[in-house]
Order: sequence, then C-alpha cells, then structure tokens
Amino acid sequence: MIININLFSVTVALVALISTASVKADSAEEVLSNCIACHTVSEPAEMMLDERMKRIGPSLFYAGNKYQAVWLESWLQNPTRLHPAGVYYGRHVVVTDEGDIVSETDFITHPKLDKQQAQEATKALLTLQAKSELVADLNPGEIKKASHRMGSLNFRKFKGCASCHKDSVSEGGVSGPELYTAFERFQLTYLISYMQNPQAWEPKSLMPNQHLKQKDVEKLVGYLKTLSEDKP
Ligand code: HEC
Ligand code: HEC
Repeated sequence: MIININLFSVTVALVALISTASVKADSAEEVLSNCIACHTVSEPAEMMLDERMKRIGPSLFYAGNKYQAVWLESWLQNPTRLHPAGVYYGRHVVVTDEGDIVSETDFITHPKLDKQQAQEATKALLTLQAKSELVADLNPGEIKKASHRMGSLNFRKFKGCASCHKDSVSEGGVSGPELYTAFERFQLTYLISYMQNPQAWEPKSLMPNQHLKQKDVEKLVGYLKTLSEDKP
C-alpha cells in the first residue's frame, strides 16, 4: 500500500518534471541558443566601444521593440544583406587609391531557417522587450509619403543620410544598414526614436545624433515609406 502511494507520487513528480522541461524548451533563450554565438540577446550591463567593433551580428536584446513580425519571419527564411559593408565596416573596408572597396571575402552567410524555425525564432525575438521606455510615449499618426524627388533631396543632400546609408540597391553609403527596406523592417516607433537619438538605443552606436526636429524625422520616415511602397 505504502509502496503504491510512493510510486504514485513519483509518477506525479516525474510528470511535473517532464512538463516543466518542455515548457523550458520553448523559452526564448532555448529557441535562440543557436544565435548567441553572433548576437547579444540579453541586455549587457555596459556597452563598450571595443564590443561594438568586434560585434559579429547586431544586438537583438531589444528585438521586440525594433522589428515587424512579418519582416522577421520572412527574412530569417531568406536573409538578404542588410549591412553592405558588414556590421562593423572597419573590418571589411580596404582603402585604395581608387577609393574604399568592400572586401566581401570574410562576410558571413546568414543561417537560413525553415518556416517553423523562423516562426519560433520570431516569437522568441518579439519577447525581448528591453528599451520599451523609449517608445512607450510615441504615438505617431499616419505617416504621409514624401514625393520621391523631395524625399531623396532631403535624404541625400540636406540631411546627409546617404553618406552612410543606401536608399536604393545601387546608391548610397555602405557604413550603415540599408534603409530601402527600413519601413517594412522596423516598427514605426523604433524608426522615429532611433533617428532622434541613436545612443539611447546603443550607447556606442556609430550613427551620430543629428538632433533632428520632429518635422524632419516625419519627412524622412515619409521618404522611407515611399521607398517601400512605390518599388520600381
Ligand atoms: C555566424 C553568426 C550568426 C549566427 C549564428 C546568427 N546570425 Fe543573425 N546576423 C549575423 C550577421 C553577420 C548579421 C548581419 C547580416 C547582414 O548585414 O546582412 C545578422 C543579422 C541578423 C538580423 C538582422 C539584424 C539587423 O541588422 O537588424 C536578425 C534579425 C538576425 N540576424 C537574427 C538571427 C537569429 C534569430 C539567429 C539564430 C537563429 C541568428 N541571427 C544567427 C550573424 C549571425
Ligand atoms: C556617419 C554615418 C551615418 C549618418 C550620417 C547617418 N547614419 Fe544612420 N546609422 C549609421 C550606422 C553605422 C548605423 C548602425 C548603428 C551601428 O552600427 O552602430 C545607423 C543606424 C540607423 C538606423 C537604425 C537601423 C538599424 O538597423 O537599427 C536608422 C533608422 C538610421 N540610421 C537612419 C538614419 C537617417 C534617417 C539618417 C539621416 C538623417 C542617418 N541615419 C544618418 C550611420 C549613419
């Protein structure tokens, strides 16, 4: 009789253990365990310039406040190059008499996930909610598209974004991530907030704070919307 009761409680304990184990297997850390060799998924106590320069992949610890789910799920299955000169251009750019040349030989081919893995990774990434305070009070209304001509003048000439960012596959700077898919890639609140203060997201961001006015940010975001929605 006593043995029976013990067996029963052992079984109960075992079932409990197994179910916690399977809950654990679905946790964000577990799902993203293949990503941490190249990406930071939890907020570092301190972010040093040295870490920024050695970084292999961009930080993902605030992914839940940065990316659009639809874009993430699709990109993870079919990754395209986002950083034309690598995540830290200093490692990949060779200075020559003819100008700077991007050496692609040591570029990483991004792991490609199948549909189910991409869905799981997306779900896990969206739970990474660091930096929520930066977007909590932003309530952007409908963003008006900019005309292509005025938008590109603004992006390329007046605000100088094109010295570091591409606004088309073939034009623009290479030290920053491409921005011609930015409007589909990022949450609107991230776009606005990052443009206004890159260092609030990444203390060692390589993008200078240009102290853009609200009005200028809206115009630039309007141009990024035009680039996404009016593809040639
Ligand atoms: C071998 C290193 C490596 C591994 C492993 C890796 N990544 Fe990456 N990841 C990179 C690099 C390098 C980039 C930048 C790619 C580019 O510029 O085109 C990147 C870019 C990304 C981006 C876009 C970042 C941006 O610029 O906004 C996401 C999202 C991402 N990785 C998610 C993942 C996930 C999820 C995993 C795990 C399933 C993973 N990565 C595994 C190296 C890696
Ligand atoms: C001196 C070069 C430089 C200039 C000028 C610059 N950026 Fe950047 N920007 C960067 C770099 C580099 C990053 C990525 C941050 C990092 O790698 O540390 C970035 C990141 C961004 C991001 C976030 C992208 C991401 O993947 O998280 C946005 C949005 C952005 N820039 C918009 C702009 C706009 C709009 C302008 C013009 C007003 C501009 N940038 C001017 C270099 C620049």
